[in-house]
Amino acid sequence: MPEAPWPPGIEPLVPVPGYPNTWTHTPARAPIARAAGATERATPAALHRKLPDGEANLAERTRGKPAIGQLMEISGRVLDEAGRPVAGAVIELWQANAAGRYAHAIDTSAAPLDPNFEGHGRIRTDADGRYAFTTVKPGAYAVPVQETWWRPPHLHFSVFGPSCLSRLVTQMYFPGDPLNELDRILQSIPDAAARSRMVARMQPPASVGSLHLGFVHDIVLRGRFATPEG
Ligand SMILES: [Fe+2]
Repeated sequence: MPEAPWPPGIEPLVPVPGYPNTWTHTPARAPIARAAGATERATPAALHRKLPDGEANLAERTRGKPAIGQLMEISGRVLDEAGRPVAGAVIELWQANAAGRYAHAIDTSAAPLDPNFEGHGRIRTDADGRYAFTTVKPGAYAVPVQETWWRPPHLHFSVFGPSCLSRLVTQMYFPGDPLNELDRILQSIPDAAARSRMVARMQPPASVGSLHLGFVHDIVLRGRFATPEG
């Protein structure tokens, strides 16, 4: 039997005060634990094979017109609980633009939209579990609740691997941002080491050149060193 997907301290403590969606998405009772069976080891209908690839470059929706903001490349590997690469996994990225606004009807903030920013991408990991997106660094945004608070710049990732055991929805943060310490989503992860696994590493400028910033973020789907849900 595989080890528990998320040992104590890695799962977020939900619902998160002041974050409305976690109240509607959180079951009232604890889940019933049981061993993974054949259903969990195989993807019903092989969803990861049916999803078409999308954009790997979110920063040039209109060819020749780069999005506004700090260009960056985010890359890394998707790994299982044993540190093995997960090849062929569908990895989706969605994020706010450089002004902190999502290109989605639900975001009605006053921050400007950017017609040259795509806002979401979908690619597959290669044989070594690697992925890479080109995008812009997202802006922070205020959570639209009465006693408002700010989300730090962050990326949302969804991973569909070859089975239900390789499914994860998570968020990634930027190193050194002062809002990270105040973010109720990141701070809902009890274990400090687990929180640090949601923060990307910056690559030395000399290794990525002058076109964009470079960040590395590995995503571990399960186990002791799992990347927490977000
Ligand atoms: Fe967000």
